[in-house]
Amino acid sequence: MATRTAEFAEEQKSILEAHPDAPAVQFEHVSIGFEGKQVLEDISFTVKRGETRILLGPAGVGKSVLLKLANGLLKPDSGQVWVFGFEVSAMREQDLFRLRESIGTVFQEGALFDSMTVRDNVGFRLMEEHVPDAEIDRRVTEALRFVELEHTLTKFPAELSGGMRRRVAIARAIVTKPDLILYDSPTGGLDPITSTTIVELVIKQRDVSHTSSIVVTHRLQDAFMLATHCFNQEAKAVTPLPEGELDASTSFMMLHQGKLVFDGSTRDLVRSDDPFIRNYLS
Ligand SMILES: Nc1ncnc2c1ncn2[C@@H]1O[C@H](COP(=O)(O)OP(=O)(O)OP(=O)(O)O)[C@@H](O)[C@H]1O
Ligand SMILES: [Mg+2]
Repeated sequence: MATRTAEFAEEQKSILEAHPDAPAVQFEHVSIGFEGKQVLEDISFTVKRGETRILLGPAGVGKSVLLKLANGLLKPDSGQVWVFGFEVSAMREQDLFRLRESIGTVFQEGALFDSMTVRDNVGFRLMEEHVPDAEIDRRVTEALRFVELEHTLTKFPAELSGGMRRRVAIARAIVTKPDLILYDSPTGGLDPITSTTIVELVIKQRDVSHTSSIVVTHRLQDAFMLATHCFNQEAKAVTPLPEGELDASTSFMMLHQGKLVFDGSTRDLVRSDDPFIRNYLS
């Protein structure tokens, strides 16, 4: 029997294959402001399929706004936003709904529903899609296993630690097996050790599933860990790359005063002589 899940997988495949040469994300001359205050100004960049782009920039610069433009929660005042070749900035809400099945978002602060169990939080999108219960259970358990929290199925968010809640938010983002993941400050507010476990999950997802992603972070330490570590299949653990090697699929962008002031490799970032970047990195 063709289940709703099979249809779901089919739709997702067709989204990916509709424009096989299109990048995962493309911004073209995107500007947006609120109440007369310009937030992003003439932003253009491309995230190729399989790439991880780390987005840096001071608080309030527009990092969350940029991610919301990528999943169509906000529309630009001018310019275009494309995801897998679909112009998100021109799509109707009902079409966006379909496309969002291919986009997982880890919202800033996790944003779990307090009144729902972990199972229902993670399975929420599948429940909305009327996927059969047994299939939801299977996929939720698989997603929770990925974040090593399968024992929390019947718990409520309030019963979990901050780090566990963030891991549940990651499980929720990956439960539809998205092709693009938008992580908004996934380690924000966490202690350094817990942050490391979250970054390890981001690395594992990158290296096991080769999902395209944009990762917003305030912590340079997290950003450089993403650039210098990989998931080692044999050891089943995140390990450092050999001295001097960098992950080839990971690169950086930096926002400052509404502009994209850097878009390039880890090496170019650390070698930059731009005073703002030097100051940010120091
Ligand atoms: N829906 C909205 N309505 C009005 N202003 C908004 C809206 N969303 C964002 N802003 C404004 O846009 C600016 C950028 O906000 P954004 O949340 O993207 O910053 P950020 O870089 O994510 O900051 P942080 O590092 O603190 O998360 C802020 O001045 C914010 O007040
Ligand atoms: Mg933000």
